[in-house]
Amino acid sequence: MIVAIDGPAGAGKSTVARALAQRLGFRYLDTGAMYRALTWLALEHGVGLEDGSALGALAEASPITFDADHVSIDGQDVTEAIRGPDIDRVVSSVARHPEVREVMRDRQRELAEQGDAVIEGRDIGTVVCPGADVKVYLNAERQIRAERRLAERPEIGADALATDLRLRDQSDAERMMPAPDAVRIDTTELDVEDVVGRIEQLVRERQPA
Ligand code: DC
Repeated sequence: MIVAIDGPAGAGKSTVARALAQRLGFRYLDTGAMYRALTWLALEHGVGLEDGSALGALAEASPITFDADHVSIDGQDVTEAIRGPDIDRVVSSVARHPEVREVMRDRQRELAEQGDAVIEGRDIGTVVCPGADVKVYLNAERQIRAERRLAERPEIGADALATDLRLRDQSDAERMMPAPDAVRIDTTELDVEDVVGRIEQLVRERQPA
């Protein structure tokens, strides 16, 4: 069974998807980490972030692996490095290239085919796994999303973070359309436990008795 969890930055996807996967005994797949890892590698190699074909070729040549809570690209563990504000600021410029998205989509589908998984991203329910058994679109007011990000990255400062989030929302907007059949959950006033419980309920309803 595939559970797709999409939504904008700061909507609570990672926390919810991770907790849900643990509760269900499913794998957890963070597709944003794949775009982040590629961005990190492009910066390392000096590949221009406007050059879609070079980025697509880099993506094609660079395997990404998940091992427990660690993500590696091209054999290098980038778990910590991909969470910095330098990556936050440019990752959507990398993710917008069709050449990059094509490689990522195929890899994500391969991972999805390996069995039960909770997969979080932006286009899981629409593009990567349109046949997902459960589709959820998480959202929250931007102010709340900014506050959540601030709790994760206190060193950045509230103003810079709010600006980063606004710019990233604009840049990601095209890919932030909920699937028509996604269940929308506004997490502004919900805690993690409530959201996980609701999605778990949706999964149980679709699981064969
Ligand atoms: O969820 P995140 O903040 O780690 O995602 C990082 C970036 O990757 C985000 O700005 C949009 C992009 N992304 C995407 O385009 N498609 C996905 N399935 C996941 C992430």
